[in-house]
Amino acid sequence: MRLDRFLSHSSGLSRNQVKVLLHRGDVLIDGQPVRDSSLQVNATNRITLEGKLLHWPRNYYVMLHKPLGYVCSTEESSHPLVASLIARVWAGELHSAGRLDADTTGLVLLTNDGNWSHALTSPRRHCDKTYLAGVKHPLQPELVERFAAGIVLNDDPKPTLPAQLQILDTHSARVKLHEGRYHQVRRMFAACSNRVETLHREAIGNIALDASLQSGQWRELTSEEVANV
Ligand code: URA
Repeated sequence: MRLDRFLSHSSGLSRNQVKVLLHRGDVLIDGQPVRDSSLQVNATNRITLEGKLLHWPRNYYVMLHKPLGYVCSTEESSHPLVASLIARVWAGELHSAGRLDADTTGLVLLTNDGNWSHALTSPRRHCDKTYLAGVKHPLQPELVERFAAGIVLNDDPKPTLPAQLQILDTHSARVKLHEGRYHQVRRMFAACSNRVETLHREAIGNIALDASLQSGQWRELTSEEVANV
């Protein structure tokens, strides 16, 4: 995190007030005065302001039931951002641990803890993601084996990792993936000459979307959920 951001978050001062204090040499990092507001700092730094030790802002872990039309980006977009659904001063600090397309609904996890989101999304962790897909054409039983064997996408020669497909009825299925390539579920069905019309994420790893959350609602994760990814 940038030093000026850390200072204003942990002290409650405005960016301008922070600038003045930095200029005056009132900010020490590990005992040394620092004037560069853009310096990157982390939780291992001991940062004092006018002699007082500042504490690292707390971590937030949120599950959101993402509605259609919202994007998981942190940058401005023509679509509204998922963080705008979280009416808290700290919402702007959050990033999503694994994105969903604007056209996909369901579970999005948001946090300001980069280590946690990295652990959750790292390809080496193979954290399962579970989706419900509604498709245009009837589902053939052979598709179960094709998903399990790995599918060569139309525009990528590297086959997908084995995925589980559970056919629920002629036009809907539950898909469990261990990886998270761009638009992966839609592209897997497209490679099998079908088309995803609705897509909803039910779970990431051990965290399932809370059934009591309506579209657009959110809650903080419990400490058990945070620890049990
Ligand atoms: N796969 C997709 O195609 N879209 C998503 O949002 C997530 C997985």
